[in-house]
Amino acid sequence: MAHLFNRNVVLGVSGGIAAYKSAELVRQLQELGADVRVIMTRGACEFITPLTLQALSGRPVHTELLDAEAELGMGHIELARWADLLLIAPATADLLARLAAGRADDLLTTVALATAAPRLLAPAMNQQMWRDPATSANVAVLAERGFHMVGPADGEQACGDVGPGRMEQPAAIAAAAAGLFSSGLLAGKRVVITAGPTREALDPVRYLSNHSSGKMGFALAQAAVDAGAQTTLVSGPVELPTPDHVRRLNVQSAQDMLRECLALTPACDIFIACAAVADYRPADVAGQKIKKGDERITLELQRNPDILATIAASAAAPFTVGFAAETTDVLTYARGKLENKGLDMIVANDVSDSAIGFNSENNAVTVLWRNGSRELEQASKAAIARELMELIAKEFGASRD
Ligand code: PMT
Repeated sequence: MAHLFNRNVVLGVSGGIAAYKSAELVRQLQELGADVRVIMTRGACEFITPLTLQALSGRPVHTELLDAEAELGMGHIELARWADLLLIAPATADLLARLAAGRADDLLTTVALATAAPRLLAPAMNQQMWRDPATSANVAVLAERGFHMVGPADGEQACGDVGPGRMEQPAAIAAAAAGLFSSGLLAGKRVVITAGPTREALDPVRYLSNHSSGKMGFALAQAAVDAGAQTTLVSGPVELPTPDHVRRLNVQSAQDMLRECLALTPACDIFIACAAVADYRPADVAGQKIKKGDERITLELQRNPDILATIAASAAAPFTVGFAAETTDVLTYARGKLENKGLDMIVANDVSDSAIGFNSENNAVTVLWRNGSRELEQASKAAIARELMELIAKEFGASRD
């Protein structure tokens, strides 16, 4: 079933009688897993109080474009960037007209222009207003510009008229919102993703590891599920909840990770190695805690197996996608790994920039494959994961043609 886990939804409420249904809509969106922030137009505040929607969403409601205090908290551009989806319900005839004209004369229309997220409208108005050619023309313009629509429904209206123009039921709107994220691009495909760090034991209480948080790998698992894939995460030790509908196998060391991945390979269509696997492990693991002694001690390290290269070289290898975490000559090293490890695709990640590497919220990457490349500009790891999954699905499809 489609869901909205890990999705940020900005719910815009404009001034129509159906605004009272937005209270129920907030709950429906939350039940599907969304984090919801509400923007209300002045007209909406005449029909329902911001306090109601604040209490339900658990967040301050945004009402003014030119509010210095609100801008200090989360300004209109941040709100536009935060959104994975802008949903406007109800969308009145006036709001549709302002959107179609590209106006930015209040907070809601400004965010609608400033966001790169998908925009979903749930129109609600009197049936005659809906049938008016001006509204039809506005709806056509908005559809052409990529706005999605849900409803309106047909039936008895608050004004006593009967016909099209009633806002769809909140459950149907929430389902349409969730449906926008389930692409079905990888329906029926089996995807295995490695994530997080590995821990290489030194003795019973110490280990070697790195700063990977697992955020990028877990975001990929979410994107794979949303694309309809049967998804397994092989994760090193991280503090993250498992995305819904994902099978998760926890491991500690590189050798554990390799064992699990090899067992999964025969039933895997796409293998994505996002884990920061330790290249070396201590050559010997002390049976007891190593005691403090000499001023200097030497640690002998043994090379770990390369999980990704091993899988890429296996008989009937799946479509393999690696990551290259680099601090210099990022693209050159990434292309080298693409070729040397025999991969189908590699994601070059410049981890010298702390805003887009280990344990950051955002990422920016360049994706390379044999005869192509694509830059993905800085965005949340969730957004990068969705774009990556689209590219992977496309190249995977092309490789099987
Ligand atoms: O987890 P986050 O905090 O969200 O951070 C995300 C990330 C920075 C860890 C991620 O975006 C990333 O870049 N992951 C790859 C980290 C890495 O180990 O890169 P590498 O260039 O050392 O390795 C190249 C590839 O080989 C990687 O796909 C890696 O998973 C794989 N590998 C490496 C060594 C090894 N022994 N086995 C492997 O499979």
